[in-house]
Amino acid sequence: MPKTYTQFVCQQCGRRSPRDMGRCPQCGAWNSMVEEVVAPARAARLSTTGPLIRSTPQRLAEINQDADERLPLSIAEFARVLGGGVVPGSIVLIGGDPGIGKSTLLLQVALEMASYARVLYVSGEESVRQIKMRALRLMRSGEREVEHVPEDLFLVTETNLEAILEHVEQLRPHLLIVDSIQTTSIPELESSAGSVSQVRESASRLRELAKASGLAVFLIGHVTKEGAIAGPRVLEHIVDTVLYLEGDRFQSYRLLRSVKNRFGATSEVGVFEMGERGLAEVPNPSEAFLAERMTSAPGSAIAVTMEGTRPLLVEVQGLTSPTPFGNPRRTPNGVDINRLLLIVAVLSRRSGLRLGDQDVFVNVVGGLTVDEPAADLAIAAAIASSAHNLPVRADTVLIGEVGLSGELRMVGQMPARLREAANLGFKKAIVPRRLRKGESWPDGVQVIEVRSLHQALKQALLADKDGAPPDG
Ligand code: TYD
Ligand code: MG
Repeated sequence: MPKTYTQFVCQQCGRRSPRDMGRCPQCGAWNSMVEEVVAPARAARLSTTGPLIRSTPQRLAEINQDADERLPLSIAEFARVLGGGVVPGSIVLIGGDPGIGKSTLLLQVALEMASYARVLYVSGEESVRQIKMRALRLMRSGEREVEHVPEDLFLVTETNLEAILEHVEQLRPHLLIVDSIQTTSIPELESSAGSVSQVRESASRLRELAKASGLAVFLIGHVTKEGAIAGPRVLEHIVDTVLYLEGDRFQSYRLLRSVKNRFGATSEVGVFEMGERGLAEVPNPSEAFLAERMTSAPGSAIAVTMEGTRPLLVEVQGLTSPTPFGNPRRTPNGVDINRLLLIVAVLSRRSGLRLGDQDVFVNVVGGLTVDEPAADLAIAAAIASSAHNLPVRADTVLIGEVGLSGELRMVGQMPARLREAANLGFKKAIVPRRLRKGESWPDGVQVIEVRSLHQALKQALLADKDGAPPDG
């Protein structure tokens, strides 16, 4: 049987070369050569994989949907992001910064699923003893006691993909977890583990395995600094679903977000809190994010943002402080700097707030990042509230996009946002005026429609002691 060998292939134009070259001689692209395994002659390949499996076209009506039945997952926040349970034969990538909690989350999933399915957890980073220690710690949480260590959870430390495939062959698990794709390698490839070619080749083989056998695969991937998962997005095309676990390492909240999903909606979000016993689900994230709020302090406003289909109330804090020297600074944490600059400019020009000699800081509580224009009004109110030293009404949420003329613009999914505000006990919502009268606003919260940022601030900021509304 002829041996397999490797070649370097330009990812731009397809030029092949036996050696790695910095620049492709054909198309001139830099660093585009990636090592690939070249399979031996076709006939030999077929004979090693046994009888040729042919695909057969089926009538739409005759396709059996039960084959797609999902393995249930009782971690509801995880299941929500997946779009239900785990789909057999699917391959899911979970990305995130190092230390954010990927291994912890998937070990919890493994422990959970091992009670009714066979799970193989392959780690290239930790010894099986380390993983067991962590597993015992995770299991000590409240209801579930250590006594029933799941029968069907298998652990192995392995980085060689061929060995992993053999383990799968022997164990025949329902779920395979590979931690991480960057430590997995194929010996035939010369390049080191974690390189684009290794990552891509390993992932493709796991994918083939998943599709052929109905095994569900979870891959863990470390995110590079640029935010892409190892190698320019190569992995994202290979897998069915891409989830990101994100959050501030110094804060306890973690958001699990789906950015690609063949089996469910994208932009769904699951919220967890990292504690001593791993990641706990946060079924009421708005409540959690507002827990530490000081209601009467100036410089705090409540925004209602949408994370996927889910409204989320978050506290936005603003602080203005005289610039000691030089140019005034604008420091955002959790909001986009350009958004902040725009809001500061509109506040100064359209609302008469003098910020030219003030540093402005904005912070979204809980380590969240808010990139929705619907939070503009709350950001503006937090800044104005600090500048005037007047608190925003404690029972009021602020929703709306701020336009360059100081006008307030309508945002989507208003009823869902208002309902969530009402659920959490807020009495009033300041929102942009509707131009078209559609369905009526949901009950439970008094909706105050305003045209401009200026009017919104008048409504939102509590009048000072003399009862005079702020004129700035
Ligand atoms: P880990 O899952 O190893 O991160 P990743 O696989 O994404 O690199 O989690 C690492 C962090 O989580 C580590 O700083 C310790 C913390 N942690 C807890 O706070 N509580 C726990 O129960 C566990 C298991 C980890
Ligand atoms: Mg890890």
